[in-house]
Amino acid sequence: MTAATKHTPLVLSGMQPTGQLHLGNYLGALKNWVKLQERMPCLYCIVDMHAITVWQEPATLANATREVTAAYIAAGVDPERSALFNQSQVVEHAELAWVFNCVARLGWLDRMTQFKEKSGKHKERASVGLYTYPVLQAADILVYRATHVPVGEDQRQHLELARDIAQKFNNDYAVPDFFPLPEPVITGHGARIMSLRDGTKKMSKSDESDFSRINLTDDADAIAQKVRKARTDPQPLPETAESLAGRPEAENLVNIYAALADHTPATVVSEFAGAQFSVFKNALADLAVAKLTPIASEMRRLLSDKAEIDGILKRGAERASAIAKPVMAELRRIVGFVG
Ligand code: TYM
Repeated sequence: MTAATKHTPLVLSGMQPTGQLHLGNYLGALKNWVKLQERMPCLYCIVDMHAITVWQEPATLANATREVTAAYIAAGVDPERSALFNQSQVVEHAELAWVFNCVARLGWLDRMTQFKEKSGKHKERASVGLYTYPVLQAADILVYRATHVPVGEDQRQHLELARDIAQKFNNDYAVPDFFPLPEPVITGHGARIMSLRDGTKKMSKSDESDFSRINLTDDADAIAQKVRKARTDPQPLPETAESLAGRPEAENLVNIYAALADHTPATVVSEFAGAQFSVFKNALADLAVAKLTPIASEMRRLLSDKAEIDGILKRGAERASAIAKPVMAELRRIVGFVG
C-alpha cells in the first residue's frame, strides 16, 4: 500500500490567476479535473498568493481571479460538488508554508528548474516568494492531506518536492502517516502542449507571441487563424504515430487533436494518414472551435455577475477551511506550538 492509499482519497489542484488561461492549461489540467470529480472529492483553488511572487496590479489580480474561477466552472468544474476557492481566503495555506519553509532544504529548492527559468539571469532581483514558491505549493496540497494532484507535466518536479517535504516532516516529527505522499496525476496527450510557433517550447502565458497559444477566450476566427498559422514541417501526416518522432510541431498538433477529441494520437494519424497539413489544420481548427468557444461564451455569462462568483469562492473557502483547520490544530501540537 502506498502512503497515499492510507489516507482518504482527495484531489487538490490549482492555477495561477496571471494572464489568460490557454489550451495547455485546459488540456493539461482542467479537462482532467472535470473527470476526477466523478471519482473523488475535489478541491480546486485559484492560487492568488502564488501569483504575487511576481508583481501583479491589484485590480488586475482580482479580475484574473474571477476570470479563472469562471473558466473552471465554464469548463465543467461543478462548484456544488467540488470546493472552488482562492488560496488567500484560507489562511492555513500560509501558516503551513512557514512550517514547510523550515522543513525543506535550500539544496532542494536550488534544484527547481522553474525558479531558474522564471528568475532568469538576475536571480538576486527575484522575490523571496518566487524562490519558496514550491514550498507554498506543497502546503496547498498537504494542508488538506490531499492524495491526488492533477497537473501538467511541467509540475512534476514541484510535486516530487511536495512528497519530499511530506516525508521529511513525517520522519522528523516521528508521525509516519501524518501527511500522505501525494500522487501526481499527469495523464493524457494534453500533459505537455507545446507552443504553436516552436514545438520544442511549452505553450505558455508568458510567451510574447499571442500566436504561440490558443487562449480559452479566443473567438472562432482567432482560433482558426492561430491553427492555420501554426508552424509545421513540409511533410504530410505520417502513417503511424511513431513516425511523428523528431517532428515536434507535427506531433504537437496531433496531440492537441487527440486530447481535444479524446482519441489516441494513433487513431488521429490513421484517420489523416498521408493528408497535407492544410487539410489536417482545417479539421483541427473546427474541432478546437467546437470545443472551446462554448467555454468562452459561458465564461462571459458567468463574469457578468461578479457577486455570484465571489459568493462561490467564499463558500468554497469555508468548505476548504473546515478541512484544513483540524489538520493545522494537530500539526501545531505535533510541532510543539503552545495554544
Ligand atoms: P500554472 O498556473 O502554471 O498552470 C496551471 C496548470 O496548467 C498546466 N499547464 C500545462 N499543461 C500542459 N501543457 C502546457 N503547455 C501547460 N501549461 C500549464 C500546469 O501543469 C498546471 O497543472 N504551480 C502551479 C499552480 C499550483 C498548484 C498548486 C498546482 C499552485 N499550487 C497545488 C497543483 C497543486 C502553476 O503554476 O500552474
